[in-house]
Amino acid sequence: MGEISAILLEWYSQNKRELPWRESKDAYRIWVSEIILQQTRVSQGYDYFVRFIKRFPTVEALALADEEEVLVYWQGLGYYSRARNLHAASRQVVAMGGMPCTYEGVRSLKGVGDYTAAAICSIAYGLPYAVVDGNVYRILSRLMGISVPIDSSSGKREFALLANELLDRRLPGEYNQAIMDFGALQCLPQSPQCESCPLAGRCVAYASGTVSQFPVKQHRTATKNRFFNYIYVRAGAYTFISKREADDIWRNLYELPLVETEEEVGEEEFYALPQLQRLVAEKEKPQFRLLCRGVKHVLSHRVIYANFYEAVLPENTKSFSSCLKIREEELDKYPVSRLVSLFLEKKKD
Ligand code: ADE
Repeated sequence: MGEISAILLEWYSQNKRELPWRESKDAYRIWVSEIILQQTRVSQGYDYFVRFIKRFPTVEALALADEEEVLVYWQGLGYYSRARNLHAASRQVVAMGGMPCTYEGVRSLKGVGDYTAAAICSIAYGLPYAVVDGNVYRILSRLMGISVPIDSSSGKREFALLANELLDRRLPGEYNQAIMDFGALQCLPQSPQCESCPLAGRCVAYASGTVSQFPVKQHRTATKNRFFNYIYVRAGAYTFISKREADDIWRNLYELPLVETEEEVGEEEFYALPQLQRLVAEKEKPQFRLLCRGVKHVLSHRVIYANFYEAVLPENTKSFSSCLKIREEELDKYPVSRLVSLFLEKKKD
């Protein structure tokens, strides 16, 4: 076991990525980086981290900010509950009088699970907690040839035990980051670099030519399709937006007026929908035009198919009265989903 972690640490010393959150041991910065990187690749998260820390350099600065501003800094990263929880937890930390410095203390913060608590405590405080995430499942299942499904409770237990046995107790933070980089650069999900891998000689899956069969999963996650029809209103200098408030994707983000349907609806069918007619004031006749159709937006358990329509109305329109009327140029002050922000960007061209 000791040899495996020594090989990983040696590999890390040669291949370590220079990343902005690796420049300090500040627990707040490490926490922010881990939350950003939970569902985001390093290449995408990098600039977000730099901008976020510039605006909110300390946990106190974050606690003082409005949630809406925090969401603007998160815009485009997705999984917005990460930002909401981080913000709420910054207020928890301030109320506690500072960052907790034990595993239990860190784990008690909103949005901090076992993985994030282990990452923060090992990297910032040198505490001996092993991270267990998708990288670790993949690397350990291949290396040891473990076929227990990673999404079963016995699998989770087995991998957590093994990860803690492998952990280098003198350098837990370095070891955990070594595993993360090893998973991102060497033991990749689709095209593992086995030819140059320093663990190939000890890898059970490599020896039997079964690397692509690990890790084993028992369930495939079902995806659900949703059909969104957005209306970009042009009423002179004004447009309309609304805030998503239901317990659903993108809660507290803004979007264009939306008509969601059970199935894909064509243009003519859309103009006749009662949900659309309810948004339009009596006697008003917006001029509708289909701008984009079938924009596919993939989330973790959902695929959204979106159509975008334009509706031209007079500036003093009474339609869309359940929405917020704003000046068109104010649109970029509101946090919106990536789907809507991509549309708004494209529309400017
Ligand atoms: N992925 C999650 N956390 C990471 C970290 N600290 N460094 C690199 N990749 C990561």
